[in-house]
Amino acid sequence: MSKLALLGGKPVIAKPLPPYPSMGKAEEEAVREVVRSGVLSGFYGSPGPEFMGGPKVKTLEAAWAKRYGVGHAVTVNSATSGLVAAMGAIGLGPGDEVILPPWTMSATAMAPLAYGGIPVFADVEDQTFCIDPESVIANITLKTRAILAVNLFGHPAALKRLRKLADDRGLYLIEDSAQAPFASEDGRRAGTVGHIGVYSLNFHKHIHSGEGGVCVTDDAKLADRLRMIRNHGENSAAEMAKGDLTNLVGFNLRMTELSAAVALVQLANIDAHVARREKLAKALSDGTRDLAGWTVPAERHGCRHNYYAWLVRFDADVVGVSRELFSKALAAEGFPHFIGYVAPLYRLPVFRQRKAIGRDGFPFTLSDRTYEDGLCPVSERLHEREAVLFEPCAFDADDALADKFVAAIRKVHENRKQLNAAGKA
Ligand SMILES: Cc1ncc(COP(=O)(O)O)c(C=O)c1O
Repeated sequence: MSKLALLGGKPVIAKPLPPYPSMGKAEEEAVREVVRSGVLSGFYGSPGPEFMGGPKVKTLEAAWAKRYGVGHAVTVNSATSGLVAAMGAIGLGPGDEVILPPWTMSATAMAPLAYGGIPVFADVEDQTFCIDPESVIANITLKTRAILAVNLFGHPAALKRLRKLADDRGLYLIEDSAQAPFASEDGRRAGTVGHIGVYSLNFHKHIHSGEGGVCVTDDAKLADRLRMIRNHGENSAAEMAKGDLTNLVGFNLRMTELSAAVALVQLANIDAHVARREKLAKALSDGTRDLAGWTVPAERHGCRHNYYAWLVRFDADVVGVSRELFSKALAAEGFPHFIGYVAPLYRLPVFRQRKAIGRDGFPFTLSDRTYEDGLCPVSERLHEREAVLFEPCAFDADDALADKFVAAIRKVHENRKQLNAAGKA
């Protein structure tokens, strides 16, 4: 038994960790080409060919649609923008309810609020951490307009089941696939099962362009609405509208040529980028699966998990050490991680105080929904007691470093009695 670093021993991983090398020569050359062209954004917010963006944006959209096998890809400047545009595209209005999970990044729940919609929180499954279809069913009311599923940490939600649920009840299924660029369920890519799927190209993701997002859909009308909302659509509706393109307010959610050029290079290498993260996560799972009280991420049958995060469920009763103390010991060994993810979103002041827009509490003035603790017990338990989270997207971990991560976890686990005794002393 070697002495734990927390108790004065030598850490397993001493050096600063290498960050993931996401940018290479090809990205650099792509940016130079755009700079040399002098056109850093090709959009005009008025009718005409430039309404759809510049050459890089158009090329990226065509390449993305082909790669994902969808009718339309509409780029935006972030996944947050994409989620907001999606809410506008489906015609969400004040008081309409959108069912979504509370264990996700806050942008998921802010998107409906932007249109006066009411987020309704359904709990997550404790195996995949994605929205639980049973909890969705329990929350459907006459006001429900959409289900906003999140493919959390890179694992697809129960998408086929959710789409059927939505279709049977005349609801929209929107997918927040910000963290799951290449996940799949039974061969269908996450993001392409819902009416609209949204991906993120933000710095921390598998592939990125600094900031950026892509919406995908097979529905031509939804695609048109997304494009109008992205680019001051009210200016162009009279001339460009094919059918009903009123009832929307346009913004500037446009992607620059610079971002599109980088994203094009990244998209061409998406298999390699995703595979690297999957390999690291697999090494961690295989190397620690046997540890008691340490449940490595599940992969539902037929699903591909992209491992934006590798999230372990820690059982303090079985390990015999508190999660906090175990975490301190892991950190001392040099294993980078967090405990918990985000607190269930209904704890945010915007929900607790039921005030989003203006002084009177709009849109909650249109709803009886309240946001107390206990709403989603699985999310609360995972966050407060069980989750230990590692970010495969953050590090350039070769096999040797992956082995050290495993060794660090195993060392703390093996020495848990020593750790517990020291914690009590
Ligand atoms: C689940 C989820 N949704 C939405 C977003 C927002 O993405 P963006 O930063 O591109 O706006 C993120 C970003 O981390 C996310 O993790």
